[in-house]
Amino acid sequence: MIPFRFHVPTRLVVEAGCIGSLGTMLSKYGVTSALIVTDSGVVKAGCVIKVVASLDDSGIRHEVYDGVEQNPTEENVEEAYAMVSQNGFGAVVAVGGGSAIDTAKAVVALMIEKCDIRELYTREVVGKAPITLVAVPTTAGTGSEVTRSAVITNKKARVKETIRGDCLYPKIALVDPELTVSLPKSITASTGMDALTHAIEAYTTRNAHALSDALAIEAARLIFGNLRKAVKDGSDIEARSNMCAASTMAGMAFSISGLGMVHAMAEPLGGKFNVPHGVANSVLLPYCLSYNCDAVSVKLAFLSKVLGLCSGYDEEDSESIEAAAVAVVEAVRKLSADVGIPHRIQKVKVTKKEFTDLVGDALKNSCLPANPKKASREDLKRTYALILDVE
Ligand SMILES: [Fe+2]
Repeated sequence: MIPFRFHVPTRLVVEAGCIGSLGTMLSKYGVTSALIVTDSGVVKAGCVIKVVASLDDSGIRHEVYDGVEQNPTEENVEEAYAMVSQNGFGAVVAVGGGSAIDTAKAVVALMIEKCDIRELYTREVVGKAPITLVAVPTTAGTGSEVTRSAVITNKKARVKETIRGDCLYPKIALVDPELTVSLPKSITASTGMDALTHAIEAYTTRNAHALSDALAIEAARLIFGNLRKAVKDGSDIEARSNMCAASTMAGMAFSISGLGMVHAMAEPLGGKFNVPHGVANSVLLPYCLSYNCDAVSVKLAFLSKVLGLCSGYDEEDSESIEAAAVAVVEAVRKLSADVGIPHRIQKVKVTKKEFTDLVGDALKNSCLPANPKKASREDLKRTYALILDVE
């Protein structure tokens, strides 16, 4: 057995309608005022109004910052931080996908460290959060509600940077499937595939262990059983609930065992070309899984059995193991196609120089060393070439 440690200190509720309890929960923590951090799309979808209603019911004063961009920027963090500093809020409530939650985490990091945000990319944030951080995800994908990191884009340098620290775990995460019913099909699909990427990368990373495997396997099983249904009928609350559970479990899995090549390659696409995180991951996942397959065939064969993709396999026979493992790669490819994920990144034209820079950024990405198979510059080039148009 591989030894492990586990620490996710977030009070987690996964339940339809649970957003109604936000005000009461915050009151129990002595909170009397809150800044809601979100984006205009989430406001339009009617999610923020439910948050506001719950805060109003408990007499909690609130304001809204709705300027978060799809790949949240340093400017977004600084604007939200200025609102918190000027108004002395007792809580920051992130309502949205990973972008809103990561922005709120970065605000907390600035409140602790009181420094230039760029100083936080190279060291751990250490200290006690002086404000209650609440995550209310409105997509089933990111898992950010149960992780200790925030990914922020430096727009000028066109790179994504990561802020990390145990103090960045949200104190409360209210995962309410009802908030995801209005998600468009394309976002349901790409964020759901992001969750599957978290599950598969957490399961196959070099740092995977018994606990992360348990979370990742069940998350993958739920996603294979429910993502098609959630995309087909957004109001299917059972499918939405299972996707929410899966996304949070996959988030916990990668929070403890890490990620791999898909995320290492997806982050530069977000930083340089503003490709949404879920889209970049979902396009890359089948190619990267195929690349890694022979290095993790025994684990994938077991997953194949759990997912019902094979009736069984001979543990002593490498061909039998390989066939079961390849079935997972094929199933991921089919799921991706069934929910409408394209084979390539669309509407992005990359120059030769940008292509070289992308590969360079992916090579430096902190997720790459844990990938189960070493990926060289040539391997990354070959994989990017499969999904990008180079001018
Ligand atoms: Fe992700």
